[in-house]
Amino acid sequence: MPRIARVSSEMQVHADPPSVAEAAAEILVDAAADAIRARGRFTIALSGGSTPRLLYERLAGEHAGRIDWPRVNVFWGDERCVPEGSPESNYQAAHDALLSRVPIPPGNVHRVRGEHPDPHGAAVEYERMLKRFFAFPAANEGRFSPVYGAGRPADATPSGLRPESQSITFSRSTFDVILLGLGEDGHTASLFPGDPILDEKRHWVYAVKAPRGVSPSERITLTLPAIASAERGIFLVTGANKRGVLDAIRAGGDEASRLPAARVTTSRGVLWLADAAAAGYPSA
Ligand code: 6PG
Repeated sequence: MPRIARVSSEMQVHADPPSVAEAAAEILVDAAADAIRARGRFTIALSGGSTPRLLYERLAGEHAGRIDWPRVNVFWGDERCVPEGSPESNYQAAHDALLSRVPIPPGNVHRVRGEHPDPHGAAVEYERMLKRFFAFPAANEGRFSPVYGAGRPADATPSGLRPESQSITFSRSTFDVILLGLGEDGHTASLFPGDPILDEKRHWVYAVKAPRGVSPSERITLTLPAIASAERGIFLVTGANKRGVLDAIRAGGDEASRLPAARVTTSRGVLWLADAAAAGYPSA
C-alpha cells in the first residue's frame, strides 16, 4: 500500500493501521541492521498501548527473519503497576505479540517490574539497570520525592527535590530507537498533561499516578530527558480519535506546548507515522 503523503521529514501518512505497521517494521529492520553493523547491537524502547500490536505482530511474522534477534535489546518507555502476566502490562502485550515468537535471549529483555510492591522501588531498579546497561554513573539514586501525580498545579515543586537539582547530561545516546504512542489528551509513555514530572530534569525513570479516570493509575515512566537521550523517536498514531490531538501538535503554539508528546525530542529527531484517519487525510 503506497504511502499517502510525506508531510515532512518528520511525518508520514499511510492509508490505514496495517500500512503504518508495515512502514514502521521496514524502518526498524533497517535501523536494527545499521545499529548492529555499527555497534554490534540494537537497543529499542517499546511503547505500550494497543497501537503497536500490529507492528509487533509483523516483526514476529513476515519480518522476523530480517532481524538479528540475539543482538537486539528491548526496553520499555513505560509500564503499568499491575501484576505479572496482567493483560494491562505493556511487557505482557509485547511478549505475547512479539517476544515469545522470536529468538531474542531472555537476558536481552529488560522489563520494568510493574508488579513491584513499591512503584518507587520499581523506578529506582529500572533506572539503575538503564544506567548500568548504557554505562552511565549511578548518580542521584534513590532520592525520590513522593509520587508525582497528574493534575497537581504545574508549579508544584515536589518535596525532596532540591530546587537547583542538576539536570541529567547525556554525553551519548541511549536507545537507538524509542517507540511512542499518543493519547487523546496528548500524553505519551506515562507522561500526562499538567504533571510536574514533565519538568523533572534529574531522574531517568519515575513513578507517577495517571489522571483520575485513567486506569491503571500507578505507572512507571521514562522522563522527558531520558526519552530525549534516544537516537530516534518514532510515534505510531492511528485512528480518527487521535486526529484532534495530532492536529494540535502539528499546529504548534501554546496548546501544543502543554502536551507532553509535543515536548518529545531525540538526538536525530522524531518521526510521526500516522494513518489517514489520524492525520485527517482522505484514505487512499
Ligand atoms: C501506555 C502507553 C501510552 C500509549 C497511549 C496510546 O502505557 O498506555 O505507553 O502512552 O502509547 O496511551 O495508546 P493506544 O495505542 O492504545 O491508543
